[in-house]
Amino acid sequence: MFNTPTKIGPVSIKNRLVMAPMTTYSSNPDYTVSDQEMTYYHARAKTVGMVITAATAVSKSAHAFPRQISLEADRFIPSQKALVDAIHEAGAKAVTQLHHGGRMSDASIFDDPSHIVAPSAIKADRDFTITPRAMTLAEVKATQDDFLTAISRAIKAGFDGVELHGANTYLLQQFFSPQSNQRTDEYGGSIENRSRFILELVEKAKALIEKEATQPFLLGYRLSPEERETPGITLADTRYLINALNALEIDYLHLSTGHYLQSSIRDTDNTTPLIERLSDVLDPDIPLIGVGGINDLSDVEAALDHGYRCVATGMTLIADPLWGDKLINKTPINTTITQDLVPDLMFERLHRWKRILAQGGRFTLKDD
Ligand SMILES: Cc1cc2nc3c(=O)[nH]c(=O)nc-3n(C[C@H](O)[C@H](O)[C@H](O)COP(=O)(O)O)c2cc1C
Repeated sequence: MFNTPTKIGPVSIKNRLVMAPMTTYSSNPDYTVSDQEMTYYHARAKTVGMVITAATAVSKSAHAFPRQISLEADRFIPSQKALVDAIHEAGAKAVTQLHHGGRMSDASIFDDPSHIVAPSAIKADRDFTITPRAMTLAEVKATQDDFLTAISRAIKAGFDGVELHGANTYLLQQFFSPQSNQRTDEYGGSIENRSRFILELVEKAKALIEKEATQPFLLGYRLSPEERETPGITLADTRYLINALNALEIDYLHLSTGHYLQSSIRDTDNTTPLIERLSDVLDPDIPLIGVGGINDLSDVEAALDHGYRCVATGMTLIADPLWGDKLINKTPINTTITQDLVPDLMFERLHRWKRILAQGGRFTLKDD
């Protein structure tokens, strides 16, 4: 079943396996895509239908991590095009994840802290962040334009689509969340206002793609269905957003969860998977991508049975670039991550998460 073709918006993909977007911290010092990144993606594009490349900065202020790849200026188009060519050559479709870190940006990468902007001047509860500067109304519009210009560049680079990064507490989620957005203008307050940044952007992006794309080009949206904090995003908020994205005919939705059958992180007494609780607002004509803990054939099949059109995997593909073939051939999947498998700077970063990687005994990180 997973090894059958499908369509996401106007784009045909050869199977239901997707490489989840994963930051590599490994661009060249000028934020162009490095040779190590090209090799890393090329190896993994062989057995999946679609690769979603790492969170990609849409402007100078958008950078959230060191050595993050970018589409913030035209000069980034050639190296991004080379990346697309490498992914296509290996047989997968290429989607770029467009991103702005907002208040979640790593403050140490900014010479001028006033470049760290967010809906409101409220610090995120993370050591590496500082209190952001609240965007002016003009900056709100200019940031939407940065996303749109980045989409134009993605079209020029030959991507098959873009995914708007509306998940994992970054800028688009910060606009939607009553915790990080306490604006008093038309972009804050009511749920209509908190979703305005996202929905205007999606509407404008659709129009731009219609006008500029000369090949099939999709527009996807990744979201985190809930936040733990109160106030914070609830399932009721997410239902509203999904309905609105459906109405705008988004090409796919990507639920960012730690496990593809995750239940609520707010209402912990209810253990029904979120995909079931959201089923009344999930439009069967709009493909849904699931992610989180998808390792073996039984996970893939369970996820597809639950209604995901495609399954994305992150860590498993880091550890085993030929994951898709292993599923078909029913051969064991590699779970030891060694230096040769990923760019050097990504390998260094993975060490910071050694404890997380070891959880559940899924992966081990090996230094020699
Ligand atoms: C090294 C690493 C980098 C990540 N970077 C991103 C990113 O750039 N954008 C994003 O939306 N999620 C990112 N994620 C989250 C993954 O896309 C995915 O949702 C998560 O790893 C859970 O899937 P898994 O259990 O298959 O790894 C990252 C995860 C890892 C491990």
